[in-house]
Amino acid sequence: MPILFNEKSGVFNLSTENSTYLMGIYKRKLLVHLYYGKPIKSDVDIDHIISRTTGSFSGISTLCEEGERYSEDIIPLEYPTYGSTDVRTPAFKVEYEDGSTITKLVYKAHRIYDGKPELEGLASSYADSKDGVKTLEIKLYDDLKKTGVLLSYTVFEKRNIIARSVKVINESDEKIVLTKVLSMNMDIKGEKFDFIHLHGAWARERHIERRPIIHGGVYIDSKRGSSSHHHNPFFALASENTDESHGNVYGFAFVYSGNFVGGTELNSYGTTRTYMGINDINFRWNLGPDEAFQAPEVVMTFSADGFNGMSQNFHEFIRKNICRGKYRDIERPILINNWEATYFNFDEDKIMKIAKTAKELGIELLVLDDGWFGERNDDKSSLGDWFVNKKKLPNGIDGLAKKVNELGLKFGLWFEPEMVSPISELYKKHPEWAVQVKGRALSQERNQYILDLSRDDVCEYIIGFLSDILSNNPISYVKWDMNRNFSEAGSLLLPPERQQEFFHRYILGFYHVLGTITKKFPDILFEGCSGGGARFDLGALCYYPQIWLSDDTDAVERMFIQYGSSMIFPTSVMGAHVSGVPNHQVGRYTSFETRGNIAFMGRFGYELDLSKLTDEEKDIAKKQVKDYKKIGQIIHEGKMYRLLSPFDTNYFAVEFVSEDEKTVILIYSNILGQPNPTDNTVYLRGLDSDALYKNVQTGEICGGDVLSNIGMNMKNDRDFKSSLIVFERI
Ligand code: DGJ
Repeated sequence: MPILFNEKSGVFNLSTENSTYLMGIYKRKLLVHLYYGKPIKSDVDIDHIISRTTGSFSGISTLCEEGERYSEDIIPLEYPTYGSTDVRTPAFKVEYEDGSTITKLVYKAHRIYDGKPELEGLASSYADSKDGVKTLEIKLYDDLKKTGVLLSYTVFEKRNIIARSVKVINESDEKIVLTKVLSMNMDIKGEKFDFIHLHGAWARERHIERRPIIHGGVYIDSKRGSSSHHHNPFFALASENTDESHGNVYGFAFVYSGNFVGGTELNSYGTTRTYMGINDINFRWNLGPDEAFQAPEVVMTFSADGFNGMSQNFHEFIRKNICRGKYRDIERPILINNWEATYFNFDEDKIMKIAKTAKELGIELLVLDDGWFGERNDDKSSLGDWFVNKKKLPNGIDGLAKKVNELGLKFGLWFEPEMVSPISELYKKHPEWAVQVKGRALSQERNQYILDLSRDDVCEYIIGFLSDILSNNPISYVKWDMNRNFSEAGSLLLPPERQQEFFHRYILGFYHVLGTITKKFPDILFEGCSGGGARFDLGALCYYPQIWLSDDTDAVERMFIQYGSSMIFPTSVMGAHVSGVPNHQVGRYTSFETRGNIAFMGRFGYELDLSKLTDEEKDIAKKQVKDYKKIGQIIHEGKMYRLLSPFDTNYFAVEFVSEDEKTVILIYSNILGQPNPTDNTVYLRGLDSDALYKNVQTGEICGGDVLSNIGMNMKNDRDFKSSLIVFERI
């Protein structure tokens, strides 16, 4: 049973195949955190775990009864509120009508049930009936203020994942204002953790950073309105010596696409408070009597097998319990995108030339990127004017798409639905639709404003124009872009007391629009994008089965970005393309083979002017397309192992083992070549040591034990020299 409650001890035991999470009701009142780690089957006693309950300069709880002495400041809490004797970082804070901000939550009730409910209006994970998941809901309540929270825990036993969320209920007859509602808190015993997270910027997203936690706080966040290039809403805590294959790791990921905060606070007694949720900066939510507020979900996992173990848990979960729809499990088309081939400078002839070569190479889908609408010849105008530019495309989208279809290719189209250019018909007509604060000048980023998705009329307008274009043209794929952060955040429609609800309301509007459109057009493949990966999060992946990983298409930069992203994301959700040289972002020359080998680690495509390829390049591309058709799904569905990190070594190596364990794929590359090179050995993982494996390219046969323990010597005498090796178990 994944969830058990021991009436006698007051302990909740939430168990997955490889982990146990324990909470308890301390002194029949306080919900305390007891343990998260390797499986525990025996009964536990709360007092055995919480042996210390007081400390100097820590107040004695007002909840204590005769003969009891404990301080909330000392004991590990499951959902700490502002205003008790606990003066660490709270997960929850409210302003009441009397001006007070104190909430004291005690255990009231709980229930355990089959399945997992949807979170209203929000993106959230889901379970198939065969997943056999169970949910525990615990009600904590402040009797004085009649305010409660429902803590929800869904246990995905086979996936080693627990999904958590929080719902606030106002049962008083006053209006209350929520000023902080985090989605999870966990006070873990121990102080020797490293904090691992993915930081970056535009075109260099999700680089791995690892540092020891310190007394006081370590945190990451976004205040940019989207989850951001700068910090991904994910972090891990690992014991000091944890590496890819060994050691205890906890991973936390937020199923949300807006402002977030996630971090730790190590107290003076060796407990690490760990938390994640909506960023409380510029967050206030008015909650009337009998109203409820649903906070988004955090998913967490524990692995005793190092970072690879944690990543494998997340990969499987994202593939099966976050991504959904027709494309979840099937092959997706290999695409050519015209962005780096032409930028804004194209016409029908140019696109058709690219399409014809694409067909010759075996590519299956042509994507027309930015620049097809309004007067858009650069990024200075026309967002919002979603009518075709007849100078470039005299036969319209319909005419072009049909011609592309006649060649035997599918057709895809780029949109940036949430934006408006100051120079556009739409902005002239509806300046009030832009995100803004009355009376304040609006700043531009990439010469554009954001449409106010906290407004119903704006959401309906976006749903309307997208539905119209997608219904009336043969479009099989949509790239949904979003190219700026928020500033002067506010809405002309919201009353003053609700202005700080704006950020969250925007995300609710975004999910509403995206949810409606993706439901209405289930056969269209949607790829998310936000200047590459500024909205690469589990919330967005509930709607798009893949996201353009980064605007950096250089093969070497991609080794870092893809390696870092794989800490949490499976390759099945990463868009990756072969682009031209010199590379447009860094000016680097890499071989066509290396660009292909590295792009195989994602949803594969091309992004260069195919009509200019040499015959030799065309032959390589034809082979890449054929090979990807054969092994792409194995890469995307197989178990992934990171073998050599470009962050720590001069190499990049990742391995994929097919679900049936019959095929093993190694993608390897040098970064810089070495003269008279030292040996470099790669040790494969996840092989059967009693089995034999055949290198499909060379015919060489090797034992699993040899490949894993003696390893393979890789050549490293040239810059950026890569190989993609396929082994078949014989
Ligand atoms: C940013 C995206 O990441 C690019 O791939 C491209 O679509 C441009 N926007 C178009 O403006």
